Amino acid sequence: MRTHSDFPNLFVLDHPLIQHKLSHMRDRQRSTMGFRQLLKEIALLMGYEITRDLPLTTETIETPLCTMEAPVIEGKKLAIVPILRAGLIMAEGLLELVPAAREGHIGLYRDHDTKMPVEYLVKLPDPTGRRFILVDPMLATGNSAVHAVDVLNRHGVLDAQIRFMALVSAPEGVRTFHAAHPTVPVFTAGLDSHLNPNAYIVPGLGDAGDRLFGTK
Ligand code: URA
Repeated sequence: MRTHSDFPNLFVLDHPLIQHKLSHMRDRQRSTMGFRQLLKEIALLMGYEITRDLPLTTETIETPLCTMEAPVIEGKKLAIVPILRAGLIMAEGLLELVPAAREGHIGLYRDHDTKMPVEYLVKLPDPTGRRFILVDPMLATGNSAVHAVDVLNRHGVLDAQIRFMALVSAPEGVRTFHAAHPTVPVFTAGLDSHLNPNAYIVPGLGDAGDRLFGTK
């Protein structure tokens, strides 16, 4: 895991398997099936790093030989919250890693006139004492990510409970996100060069939603 001097709360997950799979995803020739499978695999690997600091407690269990105090994760089950729709497939990867996690959903669309995100669906588990992993493959302008954290805050989730996970990030988006929510860590597999005038990440991988679902 690499930190970045310009972005104190950004963590680039530079594990070779993650980087290798991300490069395959960037390839424009990758099939829909391959793209989706790779995203799930990367999400699982990223989830492994993101959950590294989950607090442990112990439980008394009986092994076939004796009683022991065995380590178990403390507190309530994790909540995974994909931003619709591209976040759904990342959430699937995370659920393979943590099958008992709860899953919330935040659906956002971009208002035609204001260009700002508007929510059309919010369904969340009980926030008390739970860690939330908010997922969206592309942290581009940062507006959706900021809005999604605002939504979580309005539903009683504190910034301290939230981790944001993005496959690929643009510096512009990281800056906007940190300006609004400086204490929420961002975990990403790639910090790319910049946004183009259409707010696509360069070099990026194109439209993640379209490539995941085979739409255009
Ligand atoms: N959303 C995408 O799917 N791709 C980008 O490059 C930017 C936003």
